[in-house]
Amino acid sequence: MKESINISDLMIQNHKYIKKLFDMFKKDIKENNGRVLKSFDTFKWEMEKHLLIEEKAIFGFYYSDDGENYEITLDLIKQHKIILEMLKIIEVSLRDEEAVNILEFERLWIKHKRFEDEIFYPELDRKLNNHEKKDIAERIVYSIPVN
Ligand SMILES: [Fe+2]
Ligand SMILES: [Fe+2]
Repeated sequence: MKESINISDLMIQNHKYIKKLFDMFKKDIKENNGRVLKSFDTFKWEMEKHLLIEEKAIFGFYYSDDGENYEITLDLIKQHKIILEMLKIIEVSLRDEEAVNILEFERLWIKHKRFEDEIFYPELDRKLNNHEKKDIAERIVYSIPVN
């Protein structure tokens, strides 16, 4: 694995990949083309993996023993829960062939993602040494696609 690792780059690229899957899902809803359950499933799978990796492999590196930044990670985890609950509701509507409202979900997720892209991950990279970054990167790099 190359020397200067950047967790931001990996995770921002994964956000972009998930956004691409989300946009495909949105397009399939709009076109009502019969692919919508499949594209939702692909999107949801990558989103669930992403959130799990953040919680299990990354967030623990963000706060220090004195509790600094702990609240921020708790808040992100709370938002993850809401994101997953919203996805469940969307899935039920899709399966029942009811109209789906993805606007509220989209708003929350974009806000969440923007905070991680602009504040959380850059700060995490500043806090970690290369050894810690390598540890994280080894855990995440084979689990998440970046393009
Ligand atoms: Fe997140
Ligand atoms: Fe994220």
